[in-house]
Amino acid sequence: MRVFVTGATGFIGSAVVPELIGAGHEVVGLARSDEGAARLKAAGAEVHRGTLDDPEDLARVAGAADGVIHLAFVHDFVDVRAAGDTDLRAIRAMGTALAGSDRPLVVTSGTAIGPTGRLITEADAPAPGTHRTASEEAATALAEDGVRSSVVRLAPTVHGRGDHGFVPRLIDVAREKGVAAYVGDGANRWPAVHRLDAARLFRLALEKAPAGQRLHANAEEGVPFREIADVIGRHLDVPVISLTGEEAEARYGFVGRFTGVDNPTSSTLTRELLGWQPVETGLLADLEEGHYFQ
Ligand SMILES: NC(=O)c1ccc[n+]([C@@H]2O[C@H](COP(=O)([O-])OP(=O)(O)OC[C@H]3O[C@@H](n4cnc5c(N)ncnc54)[C@H](OP(=O)(O)O)[C@@H]3O)[C@@H](O)[C@H]2O)c1
Repeated sequence: MRVFVTGATGFIGSAVVPELIGAGHEVVGLARSDEGAARLKAAGAEVHRGTLDDPEDLARVAGAADGVIHLAFVHDFVDVRAAGDTDLRAIRAMGTALAGSDRPLVVTSGTAIGPTGRLITEADAPAPGTHRTASEEAATALAEDGVRSSVVRLAPTVHGRGDHGFVPRLIDVAREKGVAAYVGDGANRWPAVHRLDAARLFRLALEKAPAGQRLHANAEEGVPFREIADVIGRHLDVPVISLTGEEAEARYGFVGRFTGVDNPTSSTLTRELLGWQPVETGLLADLEEGHYFQ
């Protein structure tokens, strides 16, 4: 397939591009900088220069492709609503371009936008009002318009070399404050997936996800947060302490909001439907390798 990939220059997209090319697909990657365009070309992809702010342009490129993987997101944690609106406009525009074609549109979301405190499955709808709720709903509804749409919900900890998400932020704050922290007893669980396993799931979703399907990209159902804090404390040689939720938010900023979240997540249905089998290192073993602390 000739596949349009938004977010192709990002942490996960830069693993999805070689995964697609390695499986015989052609990639047209969205790039908004010279540096991003050069990296895409070096990876063997064609480059489309553009941004998420131009839905008509995205629709044109999507309409000329055999399928789309949409990973780009404006990571503005000050105005997540606006970022969600931009995402929704992009999905609607590309979905409209693919309507009636049965071509695939794979959209990105997160497991943490579902209900928390219990095991969630692919059958769980997103919680109302999150920054991804409308995007998920719009994407799944496209199945009724003749688009083979699917939603890949990523674990909040997509890990691996080059990670610049939640875990590096936790490490930075632990280094800065001289302590590694967890909330309460630290038994709350974070699901996790290695970026290379996530990339394989995006390819499988493109190739064979049923229309309107929600998929869970987590290799681990839930790593107790206390164990993540323990590895960080040991590698930085700082004490590991318990905080209240309010203290964690004050100390960690935006990431503190998630520190105490209990988000155990099943990916059983995803594995059954697509034959996805994660094979890469787990989160704690990846942290133990040391590259997060260099
Ligand atoms: N990493 C995780 O742990 C994690 C967890 C859950 C969900 N996710 C979601 O997974 C997706 C990919 O995440 P990631 O970790 O790969 O993020 P990332 O490394 O920050 O990459 C974001 C990508 O989006 C592009 N982008 C951002 N704003 C754009 C705009 N206005 N116009 C066009 N492109 C734009 C970036 O382009 P540039 O290269 O030009 O900046 C980059 O390609 C995102 O939707 C993210 O929210 C990630």
